[in-house]
This record gives sequence, structure tokens and C-alpha cells, in this order.
Amino acid sequence: MCGIVGFTGRTPALPFLVDGLRRMEYRGYDSAGVALVGGDPARIEVRRAVGKVDALAEALRADPPDESAACGIGHTRWATHGAPCVRNAHPHLSPDGRVAVVHNGIIDNFLDLRERLRAKGHEFRSDTDSEVVAHLVQECRGGSLIESVARALALVRGTYGIAVVSADEPGRIVVARRGSPVVVGTADGAAFVASDPAALAGRADRVAFLDDGDLALLEPGSFEVRSLAGEPVVREAAPLDFDPAAVEKGGYEHFMLKEIFEQPEALENCLRGRLLPDEGTAKLSGLRLGPREIAALSNVVLTACGTSYYAGLHGAYAFEQFAGIPARIEQAAEFRYRNPIVAPDTALVSLSQSGETADTLAAVREAKRKGALVLSVCNAVGSTIAREAGRGVYLHAGPEIGVASTKAFLCQVAALEMMALLFGRTRRLSGAEGAAIVRALASLPDLVRAVLAKNDAIARIAERHAGARDAFYIGRGYQYPAALEGALKLKEISYLHAEGYHAAELKHGPIALLDEKVPVVALAPRGPDRDKTLGNIQECRARNAPVVAIVTEGDADARAFTEDLVEVPPCPDFVAAVPVVVAEQLFAYHVARLRGEPIDKPRNLAKSVTVE
Ligand code: G6P
Repeated sequence: MCGIVGFTGRTPALPFLVDGLRRMEYRGYDSAGVALVGGDPARIEVRRAVGKVDALAEALRADPPDESAACGIGHTRWATHGAPCVRNAHPHLSPDGRVAVVHNGIIDNFLDLRERLRAKGHEFRSDTDSEVVAHLVQECRGGSLIESVARALALVRGTYGIAVVSADEPGRIVVARRGSPVVVGTADGAAFVASDPAALAGRADRVAFLDDGDLALLEPGSFEVRSLAGEPVVREAAPLDFDPAAVEKGGYEHFMLKEIFEQPEALENCLRGRLLPDEGTAKLSGLRLGPREIAALSNVVLTACGTSYYAGLHGAYAFEQFAGIPARIEQAAEFRYRNPIVAPDTALVSLSQSGETADTLAAVREAKRKGALVLSVCNAVGSTIAREAGRGVYLHAGPEIGVASTKAFLCQVAALEMMALLFGRTRRLSGAEGAAIVRALASLPDLVRAVLAKNDAIARIAERHAGARDAFYIGRGYQYPAALEGALKLKEISYLHAEGYHAAELKHGPIALLDEKVPVVALAPRGPDRDKTLGNIQECRARNAPVVAIVTEGDADARAFTEDLVEVPPCPDFVAAVPVVVAEQLFAYHVARLRGEPIDKPRNLAKSVTVE
């Protein structure tokens, strides 16, 4: 993650590289860099900076490279392995400085590769997974650059969109794709590469999108595609049909919608390499916990704010169900001042997308003071909470720009379930039970895709409720945290007054507010609580409240009470909140859109709340 650009031609490369990086800024990133190949004899010069592309431009002014260089690559990074800092920014160089690499994606086996390279005397300058690729290309040198890259990539497991330059072949760029997008293009005397067509709009006359397994060689004015095995591959080049005005949000009307649609990929990145189907468990190396330490824990306390708190509530249920370990969630702002009871055998799990939320950070510090085992579940790598906790799980959800959290929530749920599974397998789950949970977790991206395909239908349901002033969300079991999260999404972005309630609690007060103007979103997918929630739907209908029901595909019973049904695929109850929450996100999004609210930046809200 997150953006790649490259240029080779007969004019200076730098202006294109910097402009291309700016055009990808909408994707979110924390550092940027370029590598230029030029001079006689040719050499590679790298400039990198933390922060915006402006900071990189400043670094280029302060220490100008050979600006006549006509070949180069650039990158905007969003940290996944190692904190955002200059040392970890791309491009990364080979030890001899003659190969430079930019990489999007995750190299799953980078720890093994790094150890093997260290044994051969390689010294690493960054904490990234990507740097191993530059070292491997040097190690695999022989023949042409494209052959060296092919040999290096044969050793790599994981995902990549990659661009490589070498001082030994100035004027050439080798690019490759597996699971991370790469588009190549040409114009008179120039060739380009980017991870996002936004960077090529108005620059390249013709472009071709690489497929997984493709490798391409770019030279001024041309590109040639082959397979990793070296066989020629034809990728049709066509004029780029791209509206530069749509660039900012990658074609989506809002960042929030883009991020909702990115969720299958975010979940894939979160789950990648962590599920062990044969052993029926999960591997979470960042926790650095062995079976004896896990077995010695007496309870789990989760703490967080906002959406992360609701993911934590879901997690508490999973810890109790899978691991049989007492688990509870506490609001971080409460935890920090309430003098809660934690013991050395308490695992304190702090959850934060940003890793910077003031109350959650204070809770982490308080738990450390009290001697708890502190773990973090964060999205932002190198964030304060992740660093201070010292042990934890990164979500790898990618940058989240919309203020209302979406993909971080789903990945928090997935990460907590993996953690609960791991704890469960050291305590009471059998291998077969663990394997069933692994299968359910592996299906999450597809469950989400199935709901995204219903976007238009959900938009039509939203049309019928966009005029409401108040709404209730109800659910039981795992659907209770999902009800709280659904109501939060709606109020955050649409400004409708919305409340999440346990379905059974509705009759202890809120039911007094129901009438034909107050819709109730009822979460009733198949599972142990479905029948009872259907009963609650009838209570709402008896008070004339319109109901939007989220149910399992083919479950016709709810149709007797409402036409506003969203069907989610069948799945075990402990993962059903994932597709249900996606339906809620889309519903909230469309209600807010129809009401004309500023979805990505709702009034009074901040993405990262660093004050208490
Ligand atoms: C703010 C954001 C929410 C987020 C909460 C916790 O209120 O607007 O979307 O859920 O902070 O943030 P964190 O980064 O700790 O998950």
C-alpha cells in the first residue's frame, strides 16, 4: 500500500512522478519517495519524506537530485510493516544501491526471506517486508533485469504490485502484478506505470491493465508483457477512459462508499496468512503469546471508543463462546478513571483504528500500570497505542479516510475472532471446532461481496426512510453490537436520531416512542435468536412502526411483516454481524446521500479524537 508510479522517456521523469503521486493522494498515505536513474555512469538517487507529497517536494528542493534523469519510480506508502518514517518509506534499495523497488501489497514470507538473506550477509535498513524484494533482485542477478526480477518473485509469497529500476539498465522499468493493481501505458517516446489509472489520465495515450502473474518491461515509448515463466503475453492497450474529475475518490461519490466497497479486500488482507485450516486455529505472531501464557489468563477486558467499542463488544462475545474465558468490554474513557480491577492474568485488549484515540491510549497506560497483559488491535501501523502496547494485531485494512469507520470495524471483528479462536484452541476448542471457525472466517470476504451486490436494492429501501426523524435498531446476541453500530452509522452521517437497543429491551421504554414515523431496523439473520427477534418485529408492527428487516436469504417469515427486506447469505451466527453491518453501512450511506449531508466529514466529528 498504497501508490506506485514510474516513468521512462526522453524528458525528465521527476515532474511526472511528483504529479502522479499527488493524483493518488486521495488514497491516503503517510510517506512518499522517488528513485531516479540517471547520469553517466548511471546511478540511482533516492529521496523520501514522511508526510505529504509536499514534504517530498521540499526534500527534493533541499537536496536536488539529477533532475535531467529520464527514468524513475515513485511511491506513496501507507504503513503495514514498520512505522511511518523515512527509513521505511519506499523506494527501497538493494545493498549495493544499484536496484530500487517500490511495492504495494504484503510479502507473507518476508521474515523467512530476510533471515535467509541475513545469513548471506545482507543488512537491512528498514522494518518493511518490501525491502527484501530489492535484496532478492540483487541476489538473483544474472542476465537481464527482467530475468532477475522473475527469479526473485519466484521466491516471494504474498501480494504485490511492484516496479523495479536498476542502474545497470537505465531507461528500463520492470513491473509485476499479483493481487495488487498495475496499469502500464505509453505516449510518444515515453512509457508509464501506475497502481491507479488516476496517475496516467491525460498522460498516457494508451494503457493496459496487467493481470495477476504478469511481468512487464517498460522502455521509452513501449512496453512488453510476459508471464513470470518468461512466455509472451498479450495485453490489449486501449485509450484510457478516465474522467480526471472522478480521480479523487477513485470513481466513487464519497470516500465512505469507496471504503465500504473495499471491505472484501480489506478482510482478505486482514486474514491473509493468519488462518491455519489444518490446525483449526489462527497464527497471530504480533501477540507473541505461547499456549502456556494464553492458558494462564483468567479473563479478557476489551476497551475502546466509538465504533471500535462495538467491535470490542462483539469480540467479548467471541472470547466467551470460543475460549470459555470471561470477557467484558469497557468504554476507554470509563476504564481510565474508574479504577477497574485488572490482574496480572488479565489480558487487556485495546482497540483503535487510528491507534491515537486519547481515552484508549490512557486506558492502555492505566492497564500497564496495573500490571495487565496489554494487547492492541490497531489499523495504523506504528501508532502510539500499537507501540505502547508492544504486542498486538494489525488490521491491514488500508487507510480509512471517511470519518465514519467502516472497513476498520469489519477487520476488528475478524481480528478479534481470530484472537478468540487462538485462545479457544489453547483452552477448550477441538481441532474440528476450530476448523469450522476458520472456514467461517475465510468466507467473510465473499459474505461481504454478496451484500455489496445488493447496493441498489438497499438504496431503494433507504429512499422510503430518508424522511424519518428517529430510528431504532434492534438485535440479540451477536446482532446486538451490530444494532448499536448500525444506529451509530446512521446518526453519524445522516444526523437522524437513531438508537441501538437489545431487541428485548425495546419494551422497557423505547417502545413508547414507536409510531408510523419511526422505522425500526431489525437484525434477524438465522441463528439461535432469530425467532425471538421476529417476535419483536411483530411488536413493532403492532405499534405501526415501519420495519427494515435484515434476514437470511430465503427466510420468508419476515416478509409477512415488511417488504423492506435485505437478505444476507447464510452463515454461522458468530460471523453474521459482518454481512449485516455492511447492509447497515449502505443503508446509512444512502439515507445520508438522499438527505444531502456531507458524508465524509460530518459536522462536529473527527476521524481521530486525540483529546479526552
Ligand atoms: C472517532 C471516530 C469514530 C471512531 C472513534 C474511535 O469518534 O469518528 O469513527 O470509531 O473515534 O477511533 P479509533 O481510531 O480509536 O478506532
